[in-house]
Amino acid sequence: MARLDEKVAVITGGASGMGKVASERFVAEGARVVVVDFDEAGGRAVADALGDRATFVRADVSNEADCQAMVAHAMSTFGALHVLYNNAGVFPNDDGGVLETPESTWDRVMEINLKGVWLGCRAGIPAMVESGGGSIVNVASFVALMGAATAQIAYTSSKGGVLAMTREIAVEWGRRGIRANSLCPGPVDTPLLAELMSDPARKARRLVHIPMGRLAQAHEIVNAALFLASDEASYITGSQLVVDGGITAAYVTPE
Ligand SMILES: NC(=O)c1ccc[n+]([C@@H]2O[C@H](COP(=O)([O-])OP(=O)(O)OC[C@H]3O[C@@H](n4cnc5c(N)ncnc54)[C@H](O)[C@@H]3O)[C@@H](O)[C@H]2O)c1
Repeated sequence: MARLDEKVAVITGGASGMGKVASERFVAEGARVVVVDFDEAGGRAVADALGDRATFVRADVSNEADCQAMVAHAMSTFGALHVLYNNAGVFPNDDGGVLETPESTWDRVMEINLKGVWLGCRAGIPAMVESGGGSIVNVASFVALMGAATAQIAYTSSKGGVLAMTREIAVEWGRRGIRANSLCPGPVDTPLLAELMSDPARKARRLVHIPMGRLAQAHEIVNAALFLASDEASYITGSQLVVDGGITAAYVTPE
């Protein structure tokens, strides 16, 4: 039996990176998937390649009407919602130290990375309750757990907010069949990090802190999301699953 048989999942940010890999994997595990992204061409291509077990909705997760529409689309197309994987996020280049980061960048990052997760939950929870319960997977980051001299103040703050929000949702909704957990990936080889990692010095500055000495591949993070989404995690809620190659366990790393 596949691990997501009978489940309907909404995956935001499904056009690229981990969201794309997750859309493909969740369908392979028996789910029916609503691929959500504001990249219409990219998102549609992912859904089309998956046949009639996937559908695409264009939505900007920072817009409440769009989030309501993506959930309504899941309910009207597949008749239920069991898994809400709030994965869409941005990581702008000019998000840096507390003194340099433009206010407009702070606002944009908060709108998408933090408010977008809230709006997804706000739209999705009533549909999940109506569907008999379900699992919310909110994507945070290891940077929500430790400070970095290579600062990205808005991104880090937004991901810290995701951890706190997810705990609260887990507690508030636990008796109504909703589980909510955060995923804290380490650095992953996806388009989000491509520009940063194309600079050898900036790449080396980060790799030195990873005990495993390499970036994660998208499927290694998606495996953890799949577990949290599935009934195998039926007693796990309010937790944060760290998948970081050992970064948060390290004081010094091997030479
Ligand atoms: N790549 C990493 O190293 C890393 C590490 C930790 C956490 N994360 C988090 O994982 C998640 C996925 O990242 P990724 O690396 O796969 O990124 P990615 O850039 O490859 O994909 C992100 C997707 O989200 C979409 N998106 C962005 N803003 C949106 C919006 N407002 N509405 C709808 N869709 C939107 C983009 O179009 C894109 O398709 C993000 O939340 C990111 O912060 C990434």
